[in-house]
Amino acid sequence: MADNAGIIGMGHSYPEGILTNADLEKMVDTNDEWITSRTGIKQRHKAAPDEYTSQFAVKAAVQALERSGLEATDIEIIVCATTTPDQIMPSTGALIQAQIGATNAAGMDVFAACSGFLYGLTMVESMIRTGQIKYALVIGAEVLTKYVDYTDRGTCVIFGDGAGAAVLGPVSEGKGILATKIRSDGRYEEQLYAPGGGTKLGTTHKTIDDGEHYFKMKGNELFKVAVRLMADISAEMVEKAGYSVDDIDLVIPHQANQRITDAVASRLGVPDERVYSNIAEMGNTSSASIPIAMDECLESGKIKEGSLVLLTAFGGGVTWGGTVIRF
Ligand code: ACO
Repeated sequence: MADNAGIIGMGHSYPEGILTNADLEKMVDTNDEWITSRTGIKQRHKAAPDEYTSQFAVKAAVQALERSGLEATDIEIIVCATTTPDQIMPSTGALIQAQIGATNAAGMDVFAACSGFLYGLTMVESMIRTGQIKYALVIGAEVLTKYVDYTDRGTCVIFGDGAGAAVLGPVSEGKGILATKIRSDGRYEEQLYAPGGGTKLGTTHKTIDDGEHYFKMKGNELFKVAVRLMADISAEMVEKAGYSVDDIDLVIPHQANQRITDAVASRLGVPDERVYSNIAEMGNTSSASIPIAMDECLESGKIKEGSLVLLTAFGGGVTWGGTVIRF
């Protein structure tokens, strides 16, 4: 067995464009008071029409590489978690590989909605720990706003765009990823889905006219499932890592909704000051939300050398996961 896999550099990026609750009030029948009290969101970043996912992913990846002290050619695999790829083919991971010059890497995408970053971490963790590879890049990157129906007030207030990236490599014993697990249950498919554009419905004038390419969500039903599954897998991973919830310095949950974050924290018994939230400024950026939040915490010193951090995510599929990392 080789060493544990740990995060050795992070970066993040998001579009300059901002969509505020006041902007949305002019577009659909909603208001700042409803959005703030039901979601905690005040604004979200929104890509311009000529901006796309790999651009933000590349910026985040380059920053993560600089901070890791590695060269792009040191990376052996790039896993891009995204539900909003640049195009169907080639993968966004391959496009990122070309743009950053990671000529020794395999590039690929993981399609697991908001849990995608934890799926990526979990995959490369075992590759590094078993010595199959040394360095990996895991990226969560989304331009969700291009799949949002701005006449549907149930979804358009939630989603935003951005990317976060992590370079992973071997770290000494007791550090790095101590426990990680990913799960899915496709029976919940219709709680959050985008049916158009695939081989089932195809892309036709009718699918476009019917808005089949847009995200559709049963938010209320997802809410209850999300809280239970995130809290349960978090408790399981903390125990597997050999700790109790009181030992966790910081919880970084997928930023789906402030009320989901609060409910997960209360179910786990973690006080608010040990739970990170940036949802007011970022909205829900799906697979990008955890790496963006983690990098903000590294930049601000909330995560320090030795910090024990719990990550947990939940998303369409449904998918979910939990990861415990010692920095
Ligand atoms: N403005 C004003 N009213 C609204 C809005 C809005 N933007 N959206 C919905 N409403 C109304 C509804 O029409 C409904 O009205 P009614 O009672 O007259 O029928 C009322 O508000 C309550 O609607 P609910 O859907 O029950 O509201 P809820 O409190 O559940 O909040 C929300 C909705 C914010 C979507 C919440 O359910 C949520 O965040 N769910 C989880 C989302 C999530 O986690 N998604 C998965 C991760 S994302 C991913 O994987 C990409």
